Amino acid sequence: MKNFILINQKIGEFKKKFIEVEGDKSLSIRFVLLSALTKGKCTASNILKSDDVLNAINCINKLGIKTNLKKKKIEIFGKGLFGLKFKNKLNLDTGNSGTTARLLCSLLIDSNFKIKITGDQSLKKRDMKRIIEPLKKFGATFKSNNGKLPLLIKGTKFPKPIKYTENLGSAQCKSAVMIAALKTKGETKLKCLPSRNHTEIFFKKVLKVPIRIIKQKKYEIINIKGQKKMQSFNYRIPGDISSASFFIVLTLLSKNNFLKIKNINLNPSRTGIIKILKMMGSEIKILNLRYYKGEKIGDIIVRSSDNLRSINLDSRYNSSAIDEFLLIFLVASKCNGVSTFNNLSELNKKESKRLDWGIKILSFMGVKVKKIKNSGIKIWGKKNLKIHKKIIIKNYLKDHRILMVCAIAGLALGGKWKIYDQNSYRTSFPSFRKILKNLGAQIQ
Ligand code: S3P
Repeated sequence: MKNFILINQKIGEFKKKFIEVEGDKSLSIRFVLLSALTKGKCTASNILKSDDVLNAINCINKLGIKTNLKKKKIEIFGKGLFGLKFKNKLNLDTGNSGTTARLLCSLLIDSNFKIKITGDQSLKKRDMKRIIEPLKKFGATFKSNNGKLPLLIKGTKFPKPIKYTENLGSAQCKSAVMIAALKTKGETKLKCLPSRNHTEIFFKKVLKVPIRIIKQKKYEIINIKGQKKMQSFNYRIPGDISSASFFIVLTLLSKNNFLKIKNINLNPSRTGIIKILKMMGSEIKILNLRYYKGEKIGDIIVRSSDNLRSINLDSRYNSSAIDEFLLIFLVASKCNGVSTFNNLSELNKKESKRLDWGIKILSFMGVKVKKIKNSGIKIWGKKNLKIHKKIIIKNYLKDHRILMVCAIAGLALGGKWKIYDQNSYRTSFPSFRKILKNLGAQIQ
């Protein structure tokens, strides 16, 4: 069976002027895991049916939670904060999903048995110390493979509230602490660097959990009171800005195109890419802005542009664009001038080493690029960049975002791309290929 895709032709004028992308991954996984802790039936529409989310659903099923998934609707029958069924030697496979693995551990801090959490070869390379450390303070015990998966977690009957400082700016760590705090009698005090704030919004606006957030200059303080009963709820998952971003950049870098992307989650902790691309001179507009249960939602309008500017990015934008940097590097390679991006060491801790991959992909494209201070990148862009070469991509960890960014690069800028990965886009964005086809892309 063929295990690669080929892109040999640039995309022309789009056959459609508007698209919708699937539900947000972060919100879908949070919906699944948090619904399990409520009392009663929770429903969500537009749930993302990607491998990461399906793995999260599978895990809560194994913990005794019934679910009913039909088309893009899901019902989850929560059993309350302490209603999960723990069994000895339970093995929870979280696949490729760092969010599921890390947040799931916090659901298990009261387990009376050792539970195994594992994942695929990419996830097994990722750091779990970042959640083991705080969850131990709650009273859970761990055995891990040197801070990595597979790990065994055993909880405690009486998880205790903690004080913790989160210094990575990781939403997954922050959320793991916040969810674990729900199971304690008392108040957890979390000091953290800013990162996406979906869990805070979910707690406040959906679950009505008493939390207090104090914003300081550098840190945020989040105080969470535990053991509040959480009622069931209904939710509609908005479109994922991380998925929309592939099409924003495809439009921007291709010729004479215009696209409207509807119903996208525009939470400011996620819209770094829009802010950065606007600073680089792109024409992006937001229409139909509204709020839904604390989350901002709207439609994005974008046009092709050949007047883009290089950028020296202030690192305070990093966390709100953390999953979009490969796309931003691509845009920087098509701007006259030198762009620099700093303090991106977290990028090398994702599904694959994305900072290093950014450098590799751009050099394959013939763009001058250099790693700086081991955690940054300098890109010498050219407005009339065109690719005529054969480019072969072998990412053995099959990082979904590497596959998708290479496809966008080929369709927007040309070249003959052979990407050894057929399916990984299903991790986060199952309709990626179909939307591209509908716009007129040729992919073999
Ligand atoms: C996520 C947080 C981010 C992001 C990941 C999803 C989340 O990771 O990269 O794809 O849903 O909380 P961090 O933990 O580094 O913030």
